Amino acid sequence: MGKVGVTTAVVCAAAAACAVTALVVRNRMRSSGKWAPVAAVVKELEERCATPVGKLRQVADAMTVEMHAGLASEGGSKLKMLISYVDNLPTGDETGLFYALDLGGTNFRVLRVQLGGKEGRVAKQEFEEVSIPPHLMVGGSDELFDFIALALAKFVASEGEDFHLPVGRQRELGFTFSFPVRQISIASGTLIKWTKGFNIDGTVGEDVVAELTRAMERQGLDMRVSALVNDTIGTLAGGRYYDNDVVAAVILGTGTNAAYVERAHAIPKWHGLLPKSGEMVINMEWGNFRSSHLPTTDYDQALDNESLNPGEQIFEKLISGMYLGEILRRVLLRLAKEASFFGDCVPPKLEVPFILRTPVMSAMHHDTSADLKVVGTKLNEVLGIPDTSLKTRKVVIQICDIIAKRGARLAAAGIVGILKKIGRDNAVKDGGRTVIAMDGGLYEHYTIFSECLQCTLKEMLGEEASSSVVVKLASDGSGIGAALLAASHSQYLQPVLS
Ligand code: BGC
Repeated sequence: MGKVGVTTAVVCAAAAACAVTALVVRNRMRSSGKWAPVAAVVKELEERCATPVGKLRQVADAMTVEMHAGLASEGGSKLKMLISYVDNLPTGDETGLFYALDLGGTNFRVLRVQLGGKEGRVAKQEFEEVSIPPHLMVGGSDELFDFIALALAKFVASEGEDFHLPVGRQRELGFTFSFPVRQISIASGTLIKWTKGFNIDGTVGEDVVAELTRAMERQGLDMRVSALVNDTIGTLAGGRYYDNDVVAAVILGTGTNAAYVERAHAIPKWHGLLPKSGEMVINMEWGNFRSSHLPTTDYDQALDNESLNPGEQIFEKLISGMYLGEILRRVLLRLAKEASFFGDCVPPKLEVPFILRTPVMSAMHHDTSADLKVVGTKLNEVLGIPDTSLKTRKVVIQICDIIAKRGARLAAAGIVGILKKIGRDNAVKDGGRTVIAMDGGLYEHYTIFSECLQCTLKEMLGEEASSSVVVKLASDGSGIGAALLAASHSQYLQPVLS
């Protein structure tokens, strides 16, 4: 090779090296150009959702203050603190065949229970679950109650020989209705408002027991509602049946709420006779709690504005299963739009409200595989986003973590608020326990959420006090609880057991 040839080769090599370097730099710039806005959005989310223990204490204190205000007068607080007319919790003496109907989410359940007193306990039970067609959740009242009564009638018709109803006795039902209801007796109550995506014409302000009774009559079903209860009350009753130390119940499912046992004389708005037990169970409707101390973001604000119930259920919208996945979708959508997080186009499915359900979020959040395969699959299957990089998947998990932990820590702060109100937030000397019956799919299936809630309780209460506080999962406590309350409010005398 001549001199010119050598020079050319050197120049070419240098040019090629230069081009490679430029490409690397350009890619790096492009990628840092891409990731910088992503990191900024995530950082902002993290800051806005932060729940340091000091903030949680403010939330717990605000909860206690609002509990007092809600007990003082009707409408005294966003916390309705509804009187349940349950002044005695199950003792174990309940006997006979009772039914329960559990309505409050996308499914409803019908249940029959043969109660056998202290010896036999729940001698036998059977249940059936029916999913509610979405159009009935936003249709007319009669349509919904007819659908439920029909399922109930079929369930009764399928009864086997081993369930025993004495001759001449009317069937009795505990009706768990998991929406805010103002009661004037144990077996009646008017709906205050719908929540959790239900929006049915003509039911608000109506007695839901009368609605159900009319629908049962239309089906030719001879059954009497003996107790109308919120799911928190059912869970508390079911919890107490198995464990005497249960004093409160919390639901963390599609929606969220809590109930607890209050001293009757600490309820100024109660003008009736003081119950013999001296106690009254209160349905807090804590989903409607709000406070300036709650860490909220623009995503929460937009979610609330566009919801069926703007300005309502603010605590629920930060915590519960209906909303966590939707908050995640909103964050991902912003990343897609403002930081090309999923490439040059915004994935069309990401624009669809509520497409990303909390169980999917939970599955992604719990993905421990090296390549975050579950995250990749879910993004593809649910949102139609193929071929995501590992880095993208990691960011998705980071966002799940921020949203779920904010919810879990706030729920823990709510529980501490209740413990303060009933004076159980300090260490006990006599080895006593304070048991909280817990129900709901979010708590049961979203392990990172439930573990975070438990850790936060410990963090807030301290090692010693928290060792006497037990959160006990009560799967299907609310169904059994409603049947037990139907038994204790039966129109027939319960046999006196020795
Ligand atoms: C309802 C409560 C219910 C809770 C849990 C909320 O949306 O308002 O009555 O207890 O969901 O099901």
